[in-house]
Amino acid sequence: MAVRRLAPAELQPKDFAFTAENMAWAKKQIAKYPEGRQASAVIPLLWRAQEQAGGWVPEAAIRHVADILGLAPIRVLEIATFYTMFNLAPVGRYHVQLCGTTPCMLRGAKELKKICHKRIGEQFEVTKDGTFSWVEVECLGACVNAPMAQINYDFYEDLTPENFSRLLDDLAAGKNPPSGPQIDRQFSAPVGGPTTLTDPALRGTQHQGGAALTDAKAKKPGAAANVREAAVPAAPVGDASDKRRK
Ligand code: FES
Repeated sequence: MAVRRLAPAELQPKDFAFTAENMAWAKKQIAKYPEGRQASAVIPLLWRAQEQAGGWVPEAAIRHVADILGLAPIRVLEIATFYTMFNLAPVGRYHVQLCGTTPCMLRGAKELKKICHKRIGEQFEVTKDGTFSWVEVECLGACVNAPMAQINYDFYEDLTPENFSRLLDDLAAGKNPPSGPQIDRQFSAPVGGPTTLTDPALRGTQHQGGAALTDAKAKKPGAAANVREAAVPAAPVGDASDKRRK
């Protein structure tokens, strides 16, 4: 991995402070940790700072997070520079993280890389219109549908040069292409539908066997994967733990 440094001074904003809403959120995160361990909130706070700054972490944000947590700025800098999930320079409105690890590489990531070079430029270069930037990353855990890329919060899988180019076209045109597999596959099921347990009698439903539900039908197109504020799932009705609490 290349040495990760802060963006040059000319790109750095003079200051950074959480909005009132983000500060209230930050306080709630900090309160989750035991007394004396509030520094453990550093990653969520940095993440929120990155979101507020438009997809990257300026030096002023690192200092701000350090101030809030009572840490030396170097401690927060170490974290921001260690984890590649933190971008240290401005990124495009759509930041493409293209997986280049072995399964994706064997399934065509190199061709996708060429498209990134041609359409966007060098890694971390932002297109003139501010729409795209890209970086090659290590395995994102969706190897089963390799090759894949994460764009902002969403995974786009089963990429080919054609559907990847189309995807970038759609994003550039302000469309909201569905995330997930970009071929006729449901989630990570075999291409073409289930290959086992296909006898409808086994489940007594019409769904099994034959044409499988496709990913496009199974999911709401463009459903945001950003669930940062999603409510903690409620316990199932009649959940035993619920009874124990009473
Ligand atoms: S190798 Fe690309 S997602 Fe795992």
